[in-house]
Amino acid sequence: MSLPIRIPIIYSGVGSLEQLRYFTEKRILIVTDKTIRQMVGDKLSDYFKDKEVKIYDEVEPDPKDTIMIKGGDFAREFKPELIIGIGGGSAMDTAKAMYFLYGQPSLKLYDMNVGIPYNLSEKSKLVLIPTTSGTGSEHTPGLVTTNTETGQKISLASFEIVPQAVILDPTLVLSMPKKLTISTGLDALTQAIESASGKMGSDFTQALNLYAIKILFEYLPKAAGEGAGDINVRAKVHYAASMAGIAFGHSGLGIAHSFGHALGGAFHVPHGITVGVMLPYAIEFNKPECEEKYVEILECLKITGIKDPTAKLSSMVKDLLKKLDTPLSIKGLGISQKDWEQNFEKLVNWTKGDILTLINPRMASEEQVRKIFQYAYEGKTIDF
Ligand SMILES: [Fe+2]
Repeated sequence: MSLPIRIPIIYSGVGSLEQLRYFTEKRILIVTDKTIRQMVGDKLSDYFKDKEVKIYDEVEPDPKDTIMIKGGDFAREFKPELIIGIGGGSAMDTAKAMYFLYGQPSLKLYDMNVGIPYNLSEKSKLVLIPTTSGTGSEHTPGLVTTNTETGQKISLASFEIVPQAVILDPTLVLSMPKKLTISTGLDALTQAIESASGKMGSDFTQALNLYAIKILFEYLPKAAGEGAGDINVRAKVHYAASMAGIAFGHSGLGIAHSFGHALGGAFHVPHGITVGVMLPYAIEFNKPECEEKYVEILECLKITGIKDPTAKLSSMVKDLLKKLDTPLSIKGLGISQKDWEQNFEKLVNWTKGDILTLINPRMASEEQVRKIFQYAYEGKTIDF
């Protein structure tokens, strides 16, 4: 099965944020966090000086459902014609949640269901503007929230929360700190590789995945290193991350993400780092189902005639992780044996119930979920 591809209007290029001047809506709700508000607040005020603008800047990392619900109430009261989510994945996901809650005032956040029509665009437009290069949230029909009661990260989806427009302005990511560049960039690479390896994609999503993988292997180390101040390097990573976002929004992800969600929920490690650490183990576990796709990825990287494509791709990811000062095991994240054991059953339960475990190219039994976690904690190559 391949899903119909929905792509927003994409404005890209240095200075493309300026495009906001030309939106004709009069009541504008900006969703962001306090840091981004400081960074771009003056510019936005200038673009919208003749309009009625409200800013919801309560977004936090790993946004809790309560922040989203409060934002939904804020939107319902203000009644915007245009909602703009500007920031990292958390700000964009919060904007999507608010767009949903505003568009369907009788529904609650957890009512969101991928199969139901909501006609959200009748109430307002949604524009998303990433200020990190990685999550791809600006293109996806999903959002991630943290359940306040359990701490678990929950994925929600509706094709109607894909925005009408996306602005990719590399000047917004030029000053991203190294750690954030690495964590968001690893998220993008993991998304591109999982999306390229899955069974739900099409030639259209694969074209985007393969180009994104090629660019990220080449330019992510530069963006995190000597090329950090080079707008062309930043633009390459920014666009590649967004391409992977378009693709995986339609072709899905897998166990690097479901294991990563659980690790992030339990130990509060940045999302991109958890999925990046898990990526080699996911590649190795999926070998029986994905080897042909790995050959396709390697060919795109001009690597051919390899005896064991799985081992090659996994080792390339490990080399990249080393270059990016990222550990190769869960233990390397600084999680003690005691914390690990205390959280283990919760991790297994969360992971086996995550939708991305269920759509992973190779079915993982509960026993295998346990084993993958144990191997990844110790840094052992998957051999089952
Ligand atoms: Fe991700």
